[in-house]
Amino acid sequence: MSTILVVGGAGYIGSHAVKELNRQGHDTIVLDSLVYGHRESVKSGKFVHGDMADTALLDRIFTENRIDAVMHFAAFAYVGESVTDPEKYYVNNVANTLNLLSAMRRHGCDKFIFSSTCATYGVPTEMPITEDHPQAPINPYGMTKLIVENILKDFSTAYGLKYMIFRYFNAAGADADGDIGEDHDPETHLIPLILRTAKTGGSIKIFGTDYDTADGTCIRDYVHVTDLAAAHILGLDRLMKGGENGIFNLGTGTGYSVREVISCAENVTGCKISAAEEGRRAGDPPVLVAEPEKAVSELGWHPSFATLEDIIHTAWNWHRNR
Ligand SMILES: NC(=O)c1ccc[n+]([C@@H]2O[C@H](COP(=O)([O-])OP(=O)(O)OC[C@H]3O[C@@H](n4cnc5c(N)ncnc54)[C@H](O)[C@@H]3O)[C@@H](O)[C@H]2O)c1
Repeated sequence: MSTILVVGGAGYIGSHAVKELNRQGHDTIVLDSLVYGHRESVKSGKFVHGDMADTALLDRIFTENRIDAVMHFAAFAYVGESVTDPEKYYVNNVANTLNLLSAMRRHGCDKFIFSSTCATYGVPTEMPITEDHPQAPINPYGMTKLIVENILKDFSTAYGLKYMIFRYFNAAGADADGDIGEDHDPETHLIPLILRTAKTGGSIKIFGTDYDTADGTCIRDYVHVTDLAAAHILGLDRLMKGGENGIFNLGTGTGYSVREVISCAENVTGCKISAAEEGRRAGDPPVLVAEPEKAVSELGWHPSFATLEDIIHTAWNWHRNR
């Protein structure tokens, strides 16, 4: 079993990965600044409160522990804010990630698993999106992720770094036990916003109802957070066995429109959810759906939450009991 440094492990996806890693017998050390994450989301393993910008702290962690691999979830991820304050995004997502990679080099740690995003594809020209679709991000957030992808490739060529790049589509849902879930502040993701509306009333905003889709609203590919965690562990296993670097889309291959998500959430919650129709948001591609075949065939990844209803069920279980 391995010891994994999980940077950003107190956040939404990172905390689910920590839970899966521990469940499978790996040791974890979470490093999180708690700028967005929650200490109580880290249910097991070690926790270090700190920033990946802190070189001395990184040196201490790598000196005091024999770290086999790093899973890197820490980033700022608000697309709109990345447009209005790009410096914040380039510093944290790129410069601070470079600081982490340099610390790994200094301490001889050579396995890195990176949270990238479908936002690196920009406005796709082909659907579903395969990993070799051209990458042309349309906002600084997506660009920061693409830059890190390129850094990883260069570090691999020059220094022998081994990496897994996972391009997530829309992470959703919560751990089946209901003890951790999606808790962003501010929250911008559709499913938690819908469930909040189901719980407390008000209405959910639909941005754009005149897209060239069946019901006029945007279509996205929702992938369960525990399935993302499972893919990370498969990627880790491959690197630990000396396997090759890999770049994988993580999505289910099925898209749902905003109206379909609302309607599914009404079925799951039994609540009527009112919607307010707004204009399009700049930079929202009409459809983003993954071709996940590569992760399935190469990694043996089989998402266990296959339907949107299953995914929303777990999210509702978490939201309802908070
Ligand atoms: N949520 C999604 O649908 C989605 C989709 C594609 C990609 N991603 C990527 O996945 C990763 C995780 O996303 P999430 O939704 O769990 O985000 P999150 O904000 O819940 O988690 C990120 C964590 O990183 C921590 N962090 C940020 N900067 C840090 C720093 N400098 N040092 C230490 N800790 C720091 C935050 O406190 C937080 O706990 C991010 O890199 C994000 O860009 C997420």
